[in-house]
Amino acid sequence: MSPARREAAPDAAAMQRRWRALVDERLPEAAASRGDWPVRLNHCFARILLDNACGGPWRESVAPPAWANMPPARLAAALALGEAVLRGEADLAELNRRSLAWRGRLRSAAAPPELAGPGFRLRRWRREDDAPFAALNADPAVMRFFPALKSRRESEAEARALDRRFEQDGFGPWVLEAEGTFVGFVGCWRPVRPLPFAAVPGHVVEIGWRLARSAWGRGLATRGARLALADAFGRCGLPEVVAYTAVLNRASQRVMERLGMERIEEFAHPALVEGDPLRPHVVYRLSAARFAGSAVRFAGGTVHSAAGAATVASGGDR
Ligand SMILES: CC(C)(COP(=O)(O)OP(=O)(O)OC[C@H]1O[C@@H](n2cnc3c(N)ncnc32)[C@H](O)[C@@H]1OP(=O)(O)O)[C@@H](O)C(=O)NCCC(=O)NCCS
Repeated sequence: MSPARREAAPDAAAMQRRWRALVDERLPEAAASRGDWPVRLNHCFARILLDNACGGPWRESVAPPAWANMPPARLAAALALGEAVLRGEADLAELNRRSLAWRGRLRSAAAPPELAGPGFRLRRWRREDDAPFAALNADPAVMRFFPALKSRRESEAEARALDRRFEQDGFGPWVLEAEGTFVGFVGCWRPVRPLPFAAVPGHVVEIGWRLARSAWGRGLATRGARLALADAFGRCGLPEVVAYTAVLNRASQRVMERLGMERIEEFAHPALVEGDPLRPHVVYRLSAARFAGSAVRFAGGTVHSAAGAATVASGGDR
């Protein structure tokens, strides 16, 4: 056995002991004095922490018993999450909701009419958004990376279709309002077109944004997206979202990078012809677990359970 392997074994055994102590003793003991925790039994704590560390039902990625078979990095992530729960830095109810949603045991609650952020809000669409949305869709600077500008009629049809997403999926592209004014949209939806990285339409969720020029450069897209993601990963229990854009669209990629998304690959957009400068696209990905870690760093160690802030827990990069 190599020296490295000789050292790894005791570490794994020590981590497994810490895990057993956490879920069998420390969390159930803490639950006794906490009236607001949704669970108190060891196997419930294990389910919640392991699912959140795996980004889905843990049995899909590892055979039971999880404490023995879980890859060390994954078990370390589950441990870190449990420690954060004990310190009051992760919201157990939120983590539980997400685990139950992944297991199909929870229907996500209907979308709230709005989510409030500092200096802005995300809200459902209204008829009075039609005019500013049409102006945005007719601005060549905004539409530089789209195949064409949109007519007033096309823009209205798009607004109706975007809002309908909330009825279908319980989430959708929110109107972004800053200082009481419509400035565009940001949010998540299921792409209907088959894409190279999402062969089965409806099985992936993407996040996107389109803002009026007057609103650019103030961090609004990034802040709005963080709030939409907290809702998508929290209330809706989504395990992962992707975002894609033309390789030429650096501003949009900067938003993805600021959100902590990982660049996956480039692909040729199937709806655009060869030779079109917009055809080369790039896709990024963000898991709920990765967002949870960045949300804690972003919020300076504070985790908020209300819709108004970056929700969720610590640790757990996949
Ligand atoms: C992409 C868009 C939503 C960004 O909105 P925003 O509120 O200005 O974004 P943020 O302020 O949160 O962050 C913008 C980042 O992009 C950078 N950026 C802005 N314009 C840029 C440009 N032309 N080239 C490169 N980077 C640019 C900013 O410097 C910032 O990055 P930084 O933090 O490293 O400085 C906005 O430009 C837009 O609506 N564009 C038109 C529509 C569009 O392209 N939508 C995306 C389709 S996939």
